[in-house]
Formats: sequence, C-alpha cells, structure tokens
Amino acid sequence: MKRSALLGSALTVCITTLLHAQSTVTVQLDKPGAALNPNMYGIFFEDINFAADGGLYPERVKNGSFEFEDPMMGWRRPISDRDTNVGGFGLRNDRPLNANNPHYMRIQLEKQSESMQIWNEGFRGIAVGQGAKFTFSLFARKGSPQPLTLTVQLIGQQNRPISQALELTGFTDEWKKYSGTLESSAAFANARLYITAKGQGVTDIDMVSLFPQETFNNRPNGLRADLGQLLKDMKPGFMRFPGGCIVEGRVLDQRYQWKTTIGPLEERKLIINRWNVEFNAPRNAPDYYQSFGLGFFEYFELCEDIGAEPLPILNCGMACQFNLAELVPLDQLGPYVQDALDLIEFANGPATSTWGAKRVAMGHPVPFNLKMVGVGNEQWGQQYIERYAIFHKALKEKYPQITLISGSGPDPSGQRFDFAWGELRKLKAEVVDEHFYRPPAFFYQNVNRYDNYPRDGVKVFAGEYAAHTAPTKRNNWEGALAEASFLTGVERNGDLVTLASYAPLFGHVDAWQWNPNLIWFDGSRSFGTPSYYVQKLYASNAGTKALPTAVEGQTERLYGNAVLDERSGQAIVKLVNATPNTRPVQIKLPGNVKVQPNATVQVIASADLNAENTLDEPTKVAPKDEMISNAGAEFTRELPGNSLTVIRLTIVK
Ligand code: AHR
Repeated sequence: MKRSALLGSALTVCITTLLHAQSTVTVQLDKPGAALNPNMYGIFFEDINFAADGGLYPERVKNGSFEFEDPMMGWRRPISDRDTNVGGFGLRNDRPLNANNPHYMRIQLEKQSESMQIWNEGFRGIAVGQGAKFTFSLFARKGSPQPLTLTVQLIGQQNRPISQALELTGFTDEWKKYSGTLESSAAFANARLYITAKGQGVTDIDMVSLFPQETFNNRPNGLRADLGQLLKDMKPGFMRFPGGCIVEGRVLDQRYQWKTTIGPLEERKLIINRWNVEFNAPRNAPDYYQSFGLGFFEYFELCEDIGAEPLPILNCGMACQFNLAELVPLDQLGPYVQDALDLIEFANGPATSTWGAKRVAMGHPVPFNLKMVGVGNEQWGQQYIERYAIFHKALKEKYPQITLISGSGPDPSGQRFDFAWGELRKLKAEVVDEHFYRPPAFFYQNVNRYDNYPRDGVKVFAGEYAAHTAPTKRNNWEGALAEASFLTGVERNGDLVTLASYAPLFGHVDAWQWNPNLIWFDGSRSFGTPSYYVQKLYASNAGTKALPTAVEGQTERLYGNAVLDERSGQAIVKLVNATPNTRPVQIKLPGNVKVQPNATVQVIASADLNAENTLDEPTKVAPKDEMISNAGAEFTRELPGNSLTVIRLTIVK
C-alpha cells in the first residue's frame, strides 16, 4: 500500500476514534429519582410449545389417564402381539376412578399361559438418564376373580431392557394406587415404557405414571430440575401464569379454570390444549392436552422456589377473540368473578377459609402472599371494558390491596389499543398490559416509547414482547440486542413500567407451535437463548431507584441507563452498543458520590448478529464476567460491537 493511502486510512481510524470518543454517558449518582420495582423483570409462563406436559412438568407417560380425545393416543402394542387372539386392551367408562376422569383401560387375557404387552411412547420419546430413578405408579382394580399380574419395564435401544422389571399384582375390587421404583441403567432419549400383562382374567388400569424422583427443589410432583434451575438463575421478579391465550380458550369450555387444576392429580380434569389445533401442520400437535399435573398449586410453589412474585391471569368471561370470541353475558359473569375472589382466598386465606383450607390440605399452611391478579389476557373492545369494570369493582371491594392488571389487546398501537387505554384510564385501572411481537426495528424505534406516557397513576406492564427477526423468527443475537436496547428505555421509565416479561418462555425443539421463545429444550437437555441472557442480565441487575442518565455525543445506536440498588449499595449502569464497531464510551459520575475503582462487568457480545445458542452449544452467546479497576468519577469503557454491558459500581460509604 502507498504511503499516502496508509496515512489516509490511519487518519480515518483517528477521526472515527475521535468521533466515537465523544460518546459520553453521564450518571447522576447523587440525584436518585423515582422508586423502582426491584421485581420488575419477570417471566411469562404459558403452556404453549409443550411447556408444561412434556416440558417443565416431567411426567414421562403421555395420556396416562386415557382421557385424550383418541383415548389410546400415546399407547401402542408391539407388532408381534397385535394378531394374537389372547385378549385385548379396551377403553371403558363404567365405574370410573372419579367423575373428572371417566375413562380407563381394561386388560383382558383369555388364557393362563399367555401374555400381552402395551407401551407408552412418552412426549416425543421418553428421555432417561443413566442411573435416573423414576416412580412408576398406576391405579388398578381387578375385574375377574383372579387379577392379572402386570410387569413394568423401561426398554431402550434395539428393544433391550434398561431397567429391572417391576411386578405389580394383588389388585382388589376397588381402585387403588400401586407404585414402585424403576432405575434406568443407561441414558436414552427415546425409551419406551412397557407394561406386560400375564395370567387369565381382567384388570383395569388408570393414571399410569412414570415420574422422576429428582425434581427441581426436590418437590413431590415437582418440576424438571434443569428447566427450573434456568428459571431460578434468571432471578425473575415475578411469574405471570398460566398465559397467554391458554387463559381464554378457543371456546369458553376450554378456558383455563384454576379450580380444576388443584387437589389430587387423578381428580384434575384434563382438557385439550388450545395450541393443539391452532396452527396447520407441522405446527399443529394432535397429542397436545393439559393434564394439569402442573396446576395452580404447583405454579405458586414454583414462584416460591425461584423467588418470583406470583401473577395469575384469569379468564374474564371471554374466549379468544382471534377464534370464536365466545362471550359470557354480563349478567352471568358471577361465577367468573367468584373464581377470581376464590383464587385470592386459596393463595392468601387462612386455614379456616374454604379455599385457604384447600391450600393447607395440599401441604402449604403458609399463605402464598399473592399481590397481583390479571383480569383477561389479550382482550379488546367495549366487551372487555364492560367485563373488566365488573371484576375491578368486585375485586377491589373485597381485596383493595391486590393490584389488578388489565389488558390493552394484541397491538402496541392503533384503534383497539387507544380505545382500551382511554377507557381503562377512566376506570382508574392500575396496571395495563401491553403486547408487542414485532421486528427488531420496532424495538429500536420504541426505545423512547414510554418517555412521554402520562404520569397519572396508571402503570404499564410490558407483558408479552419479543423481537421477531426476519425471515423465520430465529432466536438470534439480532433480536436479543434489539430487546436489550429497548429495555434501557423501559428501565429509564421504571416509575411507569413496573413489570416486563418476554414471551413465550419455553419451546420443545421437536414440538413447538410458536417461535421465538426464551428457553428451548428436548427430553433431557435445555438452553437459554441470547434473549434469555439479556433478560437474565436485566433481572439480576434491577435497581430500587432510578438514576438520571444522559447519553450524549455520538449517540447513534448507543443506549444506556443506570439504576441505584440500595440493597447492595451499588449503582448499575447498562450500556448497549448496537453498532458493529467497538466504541469507547466515557462514563461520567459527577457530584460528590464516589465509587470504588474495582467494579464487576458483564458483557454479552457477538459480532455475528445471526449467532444462536443450541442444545450442543448452549452458551455461545452468553455473558462474560470481568473485573475492572479504573472506575471513578470519569472512566472509559470500550463497548464491543453489538454488545450489552452491565457495570456494577460500588458506592463508597
Ligand atoms: O405468547 C404467545 C401468545 O401471544 C399468547 O398466548 C397470547 O397472549 C399472544 O397472542
């Protein structure tokens, strides 16, 4: 290269550096502002993408209750067995286990010397780890003088047994639960659970279950340990559940009714999952139902285990407006409102109250300390406002201390959105839920979205959002970086936006209906997406007070915000450089509040905006931690291209 060309490019580098050096972020440590909700970053759980059965709820048997529309779905017979004439497996409904669980399977064998087999395929396979222990259980009764003997075993690759055979016999005339342990001798993602019947006679079975003995926090009927841990590691401030459109149902009959999801598992009433039929193949899922093994009691327990405030969302008498929009007439809304009142009693009531007693009977004498309830999910129009008003009046009358969440519909702007906001303000709604599934550009354009929202007491819940990247909505760094940028604005307006959650939370890699999602999993493995790590950095670095923060100079795609965390005595600065170039930023902390020179820094960066995490490379895009020792009244930090940086500064006392 010629000397002049060399000089030219050196000059360009200098000018670029100088221009970039002009970026400053000034944080006024000595002027803490509005109080912030330290629990403002939460999670949104909905049973979509096999998030519950087949996901967080680790039951391995699919359709163990024989209550799917095709009652034998999930169950198969070995080919060698099918043509024999020795008996059969059939569906029955006379004298069932209980009225909520009307179907069961009858096994009938004609000859003493014969045997018959049936196996369960699990949720996209039964995943077992080497040495993993499971409790196998079922309800059974005999239907003949002599009961059959049932042998249960896990079968692995090439039809080889990978557990001991557990024998169950001695069934009586009445339904009774039988159980034992199965230990897997090998890891296998696609095992089968075989039940072999022997003898001559009839035996009825129901509620067949294979449940891991290791669960998150060792809860009985607990949750999948790796997924629970990913949630806990995020340090979510709250958990919204059970949805999402699941709350509404395609029709009201299929809405989420919390009362049918508590109590003994065999009494919980299975229904179809609304995502079963919502989309065409390959995103449909004929085998998608809700057993409610993960029900409202388990949701509350999960909140406790991960340190999140519970935020249940309840049906307000409206089925999904994207489907048939079935409505409960206003004068028949009573039972729906009562369900909401009863839920608060279930969560917080004393043992002497009707619903508090049910919580206590399930093993939780201490209240769950519920503070928030959502009325309706993604409803819109006058019909919603009329129904919300009825709920608002009844709930506030009885429980004035409970904060109510209302909704503004599916769009972040437009006629439906404006109408909802206008009406909800008139009703003195408390927190309004906004949803935005939009391209990354929307998130950049909306960094200042909340700066000019009225401060009239009505707060915002950014309740469902995710950057949908083109062309196929991948969970890549491009989307996550846009979300990180947007969240600087959310946090800057933390006096107004008191809650925020990415949606949806989970996706099964082989059984999803919706993407992107925060966490993906298969039968045994899981990983957080780049968006997960952005959420994690925000949630684990939330503050208690706003700190005035000014980003000046070269501000193109440079975003920043700072908060004070009075609990740790630290100021936390979040900076996003959403350009491909490294850029030095001068951080200024004017005033007389001093910080220690040593500070912790966490950075997520990737030059490649298409970078994604996968089951095999779960932390390709994830935070890297470092220490710096040059923090002070003015210091410079180099922000890598396409990065989120979080600096925790310790205030000198
Ligand atoms: O998060 C997926 C869906 O998006 C939710 O169920 C619904 O509330 C929204 O439309």
